[in-house]
Amino acid sequence: MAHQLKKWLFATGIVLAICGPTCNALAADCFATVESDDALRFTPSHIEVPASCQDFTIKLTHVGRLPKAAMGHNWVLVKSSDLEGVARTGMLAGAAHEYIDPTDRRVIAHSGLIGSGGSTSVTFAVNKLQVGQSYAFLCTFAGHSPIMQGTVSLKP
Ligand code: CO
Repeated sequence: MAHQLKKWLFATGIVLAICGPTCNALAADCFATVESDDALRFTPSHIEVPASCQDFTIKLTHVGRLPKAAMGHNWVLVKSSDLEGVARTGMLAGAAHEYIDPTDRRVIAHSGLIGSGGSTSVTFAVNKLQVGQSYAFLCTFAGHSPIMQGTVSLKP
């Protein structure tokens, strides 16, 4: 099922009305909202992805006041060991590529870049994650990654 449809079904309560708790894997548990701000914070800083989900969607919001050019944020999923390398290639890719090097295959998933008041989302296949592997998310905007990072784990 397309994730937009899943989100719509959940938002309207149709999923819960039709099939109750057994449909959690189709809706709420396969979706997380991450807030970002002008203080380089990601909230929450840890995300658990249930292995029962086929796809997982992150919605990133920016509640700060600064525009994208000054305080841009994205949400980029990598193995923890790849965080610094991906931050580096992102910085080299620069604003023209929204701080993502399209040839960097270490990027598992990434959202677009947003500024004040913006929101964006990214959906990835959960089978890209492995139990026991350590994953991280970061913002690849120049200079943000040392502070703007969090962890992701696959929940069996
Ligand atoms: Co940022």
